[in-house]
Amino acid sequence: MTTKKTIAVVGATGAQGGGLVRAILNDPQGGFAVRALARDVNSEKAKKLAQLGAEVVAANVYDRASLEKAFYGAYGAFCVTFFWEHLSPEKESAEATNMAHAAKRAAVQHVIWSTLEDTRKWVPLSDDRMPTLKGKYKVPHTDAKGEADKVFTDLGLPVTFLLTSFYWDNFIYFGMGPKKGPDGKLALTLPMGDKKLPGIAAEDIGRCAYGIFKRGHELIGKTVGIAGEHLTGSQMAAAFSKALGKEVVYNAVPHAVYRSLRFPGAEDLGNMFQFKHDFNDYFCGARNPETARALNPSLESFEDWLAQNKFRIPLDE
Ligand SMILES: NC(=O)c1ccc[n+]([C@@H]2O[C@H](COP(=O)([O-])OP(=O)(O)OC[C@H]3O[C@@H](n4cnc5c(N)ncnc54)[C@H](OP(=O)(O)O)[C@@H]3O)[C@@H](O)[C@H]2O)c1
Repeated sequence: MTTKKTIAVVGATGAQGGGLVRAILNDPQGGFAVRALARDVNSEKAKKLAQLGAEVVAANVYDRASLEKAFYGAYGAFCVTFFWEHLSPEKESAEATNMAHAAKRAAVQHVIWSTLEDTRKWVPLSDDRMPTLKGKYKVPHTDAKGEADKVFTDLGLPVTFLLTSFYWDNFIYFGMGPKKGPDGKLALTLPMGDKKLPGIAAEDIGRCAYGIFKRGHELIGKTVGIAGEHLTGSQMAAAFSKALGKEVVYNAVPHAVYRSLRFPGAEDLGNMFQFKHDFNDYFCGARNPETARALNPSLESFEDWLAQNKFRIPLDE
């Protein structure tokens, strides 16, 4: 019989949850075991986690009973939502609500809720510096997460609110990497002006979450903001140039231009970057790399991340 504390991980086959699963498995003497939740326990990714030593169980965040069963007997639960699968803030709210209620019913002793700001606290719907989206949001994918904080609080859960940062992995998977411009130069297009963007290796989010669980009760009821580094667009372009061995320039487009780009969620992301730009002191202040490093001593810098991942970035040359 195991005396280890089990952490039930939502999104275990994904970026944030996967990082947490690997962090727990890489520390066999750490006192924790991991239960990876997946919709399909026979998927290649789920089978790989099982091979690494994780207990893999079936659960779907829209099925509260399956979540409750998967959380039952666990010491901790890592909760994350999946906005980019459906682009619906209402679905994201339902996901968060179901996880919170399941954690309550299963009497989990420590919950980490991977959240972001409800930007409407800074930019009310009446503020026309950015358009209101989907009728009642400024940044739908972060507002819905921030709004859901209350569900965890109101249920009296022993929760740590984890404020995450922009994944540098977006340069690989989200089409945000440098692209060749009309002048033939590779350009990093971001609407951040000369402000700093807190960023992080996605894998480090899970490692920091593991650090939070290891602290025990210390961080329950607290908000913990993490980043690997805060960098301007120019600094990121310079790091790209150095890592790739070819010039990358920073193309600081206006927010309105970014919002008009033709990809799903461009308006949402344009507003998100404007929030990070206009409230930069708050936003960076809430995500301290030293806090992240204290939780996760192997925290990667952008240069570290680029050294490992530069070959995976599609350059569209
Ligand atoms: N990209 C960024 O820069 C960034 C920064 C901060 C926060 N975020 C937020 O991160 C969240 C996504 O986290 P991620 O990047 O870790 O996800 P991800 O890598 O896209 O992984 C998606 C995971 O979702 C699971 N999943 C999808 N639908 C599910 C459902 N109905 N029930 C149970 N599991 C389900 C999938 O597992 P199975 O298929 O195995 O079930 C998969 O493991 C989003 O809400 C996003 O807003 C992103």
